[in-house]
Amino acid sequence: INEGHGVKGLSEMDLEILPQEFIQPLEERFNVDNTLEEYVPVIDISNWSDPNIENMVCDAAEEWGLIRLVNHGISTEVLSNLRNAAREFFEWPPTEKLKYTINNSPSKNVSLRTSFLPEIEKIHEWHDKLTFTYVSDEEALGLWPPICRKEVLEYIKSCEVLTKKLLKILLKRLNVKEIEETKHSMLMGTKRVNLNYYPKCPQPELAIGIGRHSDSSTITILPQGVIGGLWVRKSESDPWIHVAPINGALVINVGDALEIMSNGRYKSIEHFVTVSKNHNRISMPFFAGPTPCAIIGPFEEVLESTGEEPLYKECLYSEYATHFYSKAHRGKDKIQFVQ
Ligand code: SIN
Ligand code: FE2
Repeated sequence: INEGHGVKGLSEMDLEILPQEFIQPLEERFNVDNTLEEYVPVIDISNWSDPNIENMVCDAAEEWGLIRLVNHGISTEVLSNLRNAAREFFEWPPTEKLKYTINNSPSKNVSLRTSFLPEIEKIHEWHDKLTFTYVSDEEALGLWPPICRKEVLEYIKSCEVLTKKLLKILLKRLNVKEIEETKHSMLMGTKRVNLNYYPKCPQPELAIGIGRHSDSSTITILPQGVIGGLWVRKSESDPWIHVAPINGALVINVGDALEIMSNGRYKSIEHFVTVSKNHNRISMPFFAGPTPCAIIGPFEEVLESTGEEPLYKECLYSEYATHFYSKAHRGKDKIQFVQ
């Protein structure tokens, strides 16, 4: 799976049997008996300053930790350009893709890999992933893969606008009236994009696209395309619910950082991705998160207005991230930093 081929290369070998290193233990496989058909609410935010809409957004973030949006302001052109560019990248010859693997990439902010943490996982996830961390336009236009650099950059700019709108709404309910510089770097000082490619899988029932996790971000914006596969659950004792794709809709996840900053009022959502025998799937999440040097903890405003005790300890976000990237995907983080 190295040398630029990825799982896409394996998929194209037309294997009948899934290779051993992708066969998940029983408890991590998709179990149809533990699912529920429920409809995750969809909110039209064309009138995003309407108090009713604000309430719907905040309610969804409290109840689900997941919001689906239509009329969100990210143009269909930006999304389809990005999707096409992502497909073109993954269709590049392995020798070209190899230039962006972690040891070869011209930038430490771009890397191509297979699975989440191939170095430490026992069993791998069935996806290839190209990750971008935004530093500057110059770096992006100079060092990112030419085949998709402009498209990823445009997408980041659009996501930034939507992230600001959403955070303004979500923070108002937390009694945070102004997002000044320190808060801005706590909430969205880091911007990242993953281009995920889940190729057709010979035995999808034995594999997993991405294992159970909650995002470490503040919020995640996820265009999932037309192929389903994203499952979520509200808590460990709840069944899994399929987030069936809706044309033009975006999925917004509450991440762990926002759970911590809101003192648990908004909950990060646990999710995972299944793969398919007949379809390749591309998803393109954008993550807004704290800068590594931000100290995150429940906002003063939240504690003051509710009289609550802080449920989480303050921590350096880089420590949180180190913890997050030190273990394979095995469920929603218990958030080690609880008081
Ligand atoms: C992710 O959890 O990062 C990806 C979700 C998806 O592909 O739908
Ligand atoms: Fe995720």
